[in-house]
Amino acid sequence: MSNDEEKLKELMSLKSVGKAIAEKMIECGYTNLQVLPITTSEELSLKIGISKSKAKKIIEEANEKLGYVFKTVDDIYKERKNIRRLTTGSHKLDELLGGGVETGILTEVYGASRSGKTQLAHQLCVSVQLPVAEGGFYEDSNVPEAIFIDCEGTFRPERIAEMSMSFGLNANEVMTHIQVARAHTSEHQILLSEQIPQIIMEKNIQLVVIDSVTTFFRSEFTKSEIVARQDRLNKHLNFLKNMASTYNIIVFLTNQVMANPDAIVGDSTVPVGGHVLSHKVQTRLYLREVRERQRVARLMDSSYLPPGQIAFFITPAGIRDAEDI
Ligand SMILES: Nc1ncnc2c1ncn2[C@@H]1O[C@H](COP(=O)(O)OP(=O)(O)OP(=O)(O)O)[C@@H](O)[C@H]1O
Ligand SMILES: [Mg+2]
Repeated sequence: MSNDEEKLKELMSLKSVGKAIAEKMIECGYTNLQVLPITTSEELSLKIGISKSKAKKIIEEANEKLGYVFKTVDDIYKERKNIRRLTTGSHKLDELLGGGVETGILTEVYGASRSGKTQLAHQLCVSVQLPVAEGGFYEDSNVPEAIFIDCEGTFRPERIAEMSMSFGLNANEVMTHIQVARAHTSEHQILLSEQIPQIIMEKNIQLVVIDSVTTFFRSEFTKSEIVARQDRLNKHLNFLKNMASTYNIIVFLTNQVMANPDAIVGDSTVPVGGHVLSHKVQTRLYLREVRERQRVARLMDSSYLPPGQIAFFITPAGIRDAEDI
């Protein structure tokens, strides 16, 4: 069966989807069932040109087929065993995160300039290709791929090469499994992320990075447009969160900081994005520069891990526990 025939068959396994609708859905990028639960009925009806009630029915059927209905705690507990954790390169940082960066949720790392957000994002793109026994996701000769949406123009292939070589990986090979897109506006960033579900299954995408998720939202909107900004950011994050859980992949967001004028004592930096971001991300990490290579990572918020902090290093080899390796 050809790839297109397989997609048609999958979509037509829903009672409400006939051949004509399935073809139109594929044309518009709805190429698998998993993409439907993260689509609104308004969007589906508009793009496919069907009624809203028909679109709602299609989404409901997809949810049912994929098992997105009420479940017992016992079932959820079993499902949580599918969660995988990716090494950051630093064992201490992995421990702080409960074993590494988790699949199925949004992880955010925020901090001032030079705190190591982009370095950590590069590191994950390399780590993900390590064998499972070494903290990566590589198994069954199926190389895990990463997508890097670069909103600041700071992605550097040279760093990927350096980090790959330090693990004894073939740098050229590693680079062919990382797809980078430079985003130019918040709209472009959203568009790029909405294209990801179409390639997730074909390409074995296991990690999506957005560096930084708030850059454009911060620069494009004026103070008087803050409600519109938060609304757009909210929808974007909702999409990313659903994508992470539907496909059980890592979605790793970096975020900038701003000064908190209300702070009287202590550290006065707060992440950009306000409550919208803080409510959507499940794991929140704050990075701080201590001295030239040393950084401190503090777990600020997690749905089940205790707060805490550790020190790590940014070395030529990547993120590590010690400076001299
Ligand atoms: N090859 C390397 N070897 C060692 N350290 C490096 C190397 N490349 C970059 N660094 C260090 O990484 C730090 C920059 O980190 P990074 O770019 O991740 O910061 P950031 O948090 O993303 O900052 P920004 O908010 O400006 O994007 C610098 O201190 C730099 O010295
Ligand atoms: Mg950066």
